[in-house]
Amino acid sequence: MTDSYLISGGKPLKGEVILSGAKNVALKTIIAALMFKGDVTLKNIPKINDVLDLIELIKSLGAKANFTEKNTLVINSSNLKSNRVDLQYGSKIRVSFMLFAPLLNHFGECFVPNPGGCRIGARPIDRIIKGLVALGVKIDYDTETGYYHAKILKKPVGKYRFEKPSHTGTELLMMIGLMTDEKVQIENIANEPEIDDLILYLNSAGAIIKEEKNKIIISKGLELIQKESFTIMSDRNELVTYATLAVASRGDVTIGPIDEKLISSFLEIMRQAGAGVEEISNYKYRFFYKSEIKPINIETSPHPGFMTDWQPSGAILMLKANGESIIHERVFENRFSYVEELKKLGAKIDFVNIAVENPEIFYHFNHEKDKKYQQTIKIQGNSELHNAILNISDLRAGAALACAALLAEGESVVNGASILERGYEDFVEKVKKLGGEIRKV
Ligand code: EPU
Repeated sequence: MTDSYLISGGKPLKGEVILSGAKNVALKTIIAALMFKGDVTLKNIPKINDVLDLIELIKSLGAKANFTEKNTLVINSSNLKSNRVDLQYGSKIRVSFMLFAPLLNHFGECFVPNPGGCRIGARPIDRIIKGLVALGVKIDYDTETGYYHAKILKKPVGKYRFEKPSHTGTELLMMIGLMTDEKVQIENIANEPEIDDLILYLNSAGAIIKEEKNKIIISKGLELIQKESFTIMSDRNELVTYATLAVASRGDVTIGPIDEKLISSFLEIMRQAGAGVEEISNYKYRFFYKSEIKPINIETSPHPGFMTDWQPSGAILMLKANGESIIHERVFENRFSYVEELKKLGAKIDFVNIAVENPEIFYHFNHEKDKKYQQTIKIQGNSELHNAILNISDLRAGAALACAALLAEGESVVNGASILERGYEDFVEKVKKLGGEIRKV
């Protein structure tokens, strides 16, 4: 199986990137489609490994799902026949736990395995399970099989307040709230724009979901029927990958379509770094090398802050900065798997300790007092990168490694292409269009 990229780096990348649809909306709209009556047509669905795996999973449950055009997916769930998510899919597709909502809606009970997914920390779903219980779902966990058994005893109703916000948790509880015409309220929610897109989709099919300051109120969800196809938003993570690559390679790339408010914290960091950023028109932005790249300090946080998914790309840009930069990861533990790999290219990066007051509040994961964490790196800029053999271990780290290889002189091998392709559509084609030398081997 060809699962590596052969990359000859060192060239400035120039041209245009048309963004694909957002992975983190596509996955949720597909899962929520199983709560609709009749056909559901989704447009701008990226053909990426995570989406293709999820489609296999919902087909294994009895749903129909077919691409009618490259990025148009039609789903029909009238023949759902199974309420058990196969372990084979459950361990591969992290969002499979979101199937709690459609399976409970359809069958009243279901069996869902504890999720696997990206290697970016423990990623427990404790807050989400608490939320399900608070809304009236009975849940038992079987430690031997690794399965949750969930049952609806009465229609979900009431309120749940997240201790700390969760993106997919907010979305799953919102979908649970669709199972009733009683009021369901979720508080201390995540505010990612991908959640807003999901709300738009559900409301356009008859749901009544309102977002108020830090809370979501679901007051109608039954009988969802699509009136017209829904087009999902662009992938802002993809934009960040190509924009940082453009500037770090001393290139010039126009990227769109994108709404400015989805990337404002990223644009701010790019401007601080002295990158050329120009709004062209029609939701298009130009990112280009203007003058020396300045070192910056990045601290990740949920929306509207600088997203955790963007920090590996930020690190790639900082390899080319004129000085020392700091990246402090607050959302996930263990999101620096790319550091040791970048060192193989000659990058100078060290883990450092930054004292934090109240770490259990400051960090968004469940911080344990006596556990050692590595949440901060210091990057020396002006790196002369050379070729190496690199191994991808998680999605966003993978994109950063492929980009670093595109900056490095000589021919590099990047292993684990299928992990990168869980989230990036036509990566090889898009890079080639910008003049990058890359091929799959
Ligand atoms: N957390 C818990 N318990 C929970 C829920 C979350 O400890 O019950 C922790 C997580 O381990 C993490 C923090 O809380 O440390 C925030 O997690 P959150 O639940 O918000 O993240 P997620 O829903 O699992 C989604 C995206 C991620 C993105 C984050 C942050 C999807 C499928 N995934 O993850 O995307 O980084 O929100 O915006 O929507 C990616 O695309 O590469 C990716 C990892």
